[in-house]
Amino acid sequence: MPASKPKVLVTSRLPSVALDPLRHATDLDYRNEAGPIPREMLLDRIRDIDGLVAQLTDKVDAELLAAAPKLRVVADVSVGYNNIDIAAAKQRGIMITHTPDVLTDATADLTLGLILGITRRLVEGDRLIRRGGWKGGFGLDFMLGTDLRGKRLGIIGMGRIGQAVAKRAVAFGMEIAYVVSPRAGGSPAGQRKDFDGFTATPLILDELLGSSDIVSVHVPLTADTRHLIDQKKLARMRRSAYLINVARGPVVDEGALAWALKEGVISGAGLDVFEHEPTVHPDLMTLENVMLVPHLGSATRETRTRMAELAVSNCLNVVLGKPPLTPVPEMKLQDQATR
Ligand code: DGY
Repeated sequence: MPASKPKVLVTSRLPSVALDPLRHATDLDYRNEAGPIPREMLLDRIRDIDGLVAQLTDKVDAELLAAAPKLRVVADVSVGYNNIDIAAAKQRGIMITHTPDVLTDATADLTLGLILGITRRLVEGDRLIRRGGWKGGFGLDFMLGTDLRGKRLGIIGMGRIGQAVAKRAVAFGMEIAYVVSPRAGGSPAGQRKDFDGFTATPLILDELLGSSDIVSVHVPLTADTRHLIDQKKLARMRRSAYLINVARGPVVDEGALAWALKEGVISGAGLDVFEHEPTVHPDLMTLENVMLVPHLGSATRETRTRMAELAVSNCLNVVLGKPPLTPVPEMKLQDQATR
């Protein structure tokens, strides 16, 4: 009798080219629908599966993992994996993978889009025209924004995406600063540090906030980074400065940000992520000096296809007894420790 194929559940629609390898090699349970799978359905369909291809909207917590005694891998179709209880997965020996690198360029491009959009008031101008508010034609002092050349971009989280943003910003004539470790105090020892294609000044967070014209957030969401940018930190920023967040919503206290934007504590913000997606703080909805984008950092056809293909390869590798391509860093450490 032929050996039975491993069972894999895919919780939401993926580009069909990415699914093909799973269709051939596994007993596939594919939910061909967009949007998050309802919790009850997930708990039910996960019972006897070996591999799960999940989205960042699927909460993979201890309860879910306990409901899947055969589960060997959760392959998130995202680089951020704050939806997964890593400690519970480790305890059960379940491999967790994510999709780094393949979305770096798309996310960095969108970050520049937000920077340009908010500093040059593009969406505000679009809204003005659409409501018939452009009456006077060209005006020398009409809807002025701010230059990027010669300004400082402060990057919180100089990982893959942070560096890709920095490279692009250098092409716009910006100078780069970054925080080494967001919660650390004291002065970082280094002077300007060389990265691939640019140099940047390491600063502690308060120094970075106080000296940057644009602050861009690129840290993962952890217990340490939740509300890293709160009312106090916003108050340290320049009145002329802008905040950009393409990382995770809860890294910024959204209520405090709405306050800072309303009171003119900072000049503006560009947000791709929100604390309670898809809900957005009501005050942000009415403010002109914030640009709101519905979590589109990696949303290009090419990138989303690459993310899905990578997640599928990760899942397939593990259920077929091979090492995953991109385990989350915590799993790599575990791997090293057991060698
Ligand atoms: C991620 O991958 O973490 C993004 O938020 C979605 O692409």
